[in-house]
Amino acid sequence: MEVHTQLNDSNNKVPQVVLGFESSCDETGVALCTTDGRILGQALHSQIAMHKDYGGVVPELASRDHIRRLIPLMNEALAEAGMQLQEVDAIAVTTGPGLPGALMAGCAFAYSLAAGLGKPVIPVHHLEGHLLSPLLSAKPPAFPFTALLVSGGHSQLMAVEHLGSYELLGETLDDAAGEAFDKTAKMIGLPYPGGPALSKLAEQGDPTRFELPRPMMHSKDLMMSFSGLKTSVLTTAMKLAGVQNPSETMRLNEQDKCDLSASFQAAIVDVLVKKSLKACKQAGHNRLVIAGGVGANKHLRERLTAEAKRKGIEVFFPELSLCTDNGAMIAYAAAMRLADNPKLLESRDYAMQTKPRCALNEAWA
Ligand code: KG4
Ligand code: ZN
Repeated sequence: MEVHTQLNDSNNKVPQVVLGFESSCDETGVALCTTDGRILGQALHSQIAMHKDYGGVVPELASRDHIRRLIPLMNEALAEAGMQLQEVDAIAVTTGPGLPGALMAGCAFAYSLAAGLGKPVIPVHHLEGHLLSPLLSAKPPAFPFTALLVSGGHSQLMAVEHLGSYELLGETLDDAAGEAFDKTAKMIGLPYPGGPALSKLAEQGDPTRFELPRPMMHSKDLMMSFSGLKTSVLTTAMKLAGVQNPSETMRLNEQDKCDLSASFQAAIVDVLVKKSLKACKQAGHNRLVIAGGVGANKHLRERLTAEAKRKGIEVFFPELSLCTDNGAMIAYAAAMRLADNPKLLESRDYAMQTKPRCALNEAWA
């Protein structure tokens, strides 16, 4: 309790502690973060094994599993931090975007917990969590920077001047990069989530064997499109497998699968690299930050680092474990906002509102 008493004294510099929850899709994450940016404890449960048999996330199962996991994970994170629940200064939770039921599970729990403890709630936009996650790495970027946010649901380029200043420079017109990875992987019979499985296969493939399109790569703007690339993989796979039915493309032989994966990955990475460097130039930034699940892709990391270096741009990635969804990035985003605006500690607004669809700049409007 001594810690808490000190924290309430606005004249001293003892950092506050935020307990954050993430449950927007298929990972339940809980973490404790201080307003000076230290993760004190974290726990994560991935539902991949549970959804695998269905070839993708089953929303109802996801919600039920979040409910089951939240309390044990919270206790695990608190134990790692060596803290009691009452010592926490604020509760943070992802309010959107994400699956409605999954968000509801995390938010209902977090808001009720906060109301019971009489602590403030700091709602967090999921994409802000991703966007700030590279700041948790050993070599964090300084503001301002251009960000490439590539996850299962989003592919966006953003100019980030400072905390809370997120200008959308461009985004995909159709599929997100992660979605394209997942759908392409499914086509060739790889298990969910397809991104990591496909990139593993690509390591043994020839990226030059199939000439796949790089949609909109040379367009003047910063918009992207990945659904045509996915269709092109499908027609190539059908031809190779000698099948008329799109659902039979998993019959491809192993080498064809590897080569197709490598060719697909090379095409998507080409587009992401080109657009990211163009976005940096347009925004006048010499720092590029990558965030989101696809940021874990080895080929993307290598290509971006090499190409950016040639242009005098420094690239920053989150730690691999923080690329996909986790509680640390949510607790951190909330802790940074609290450090920026200590008045957030005074809020006792428990009128929970989940936002399954919500743009990042709307969240700050
Ligand atoms: O950020 P994230 O955990 O979830 C969303 O907020 O959407 O990203 C998940 C996405 C999935 O589409 C997954 O296939 C992709 O990130 N992903 C990858 C890799 N690891 C995860 N895509 C390509 N290569 C990877 N190594
Ligand atoms: Zn995410």
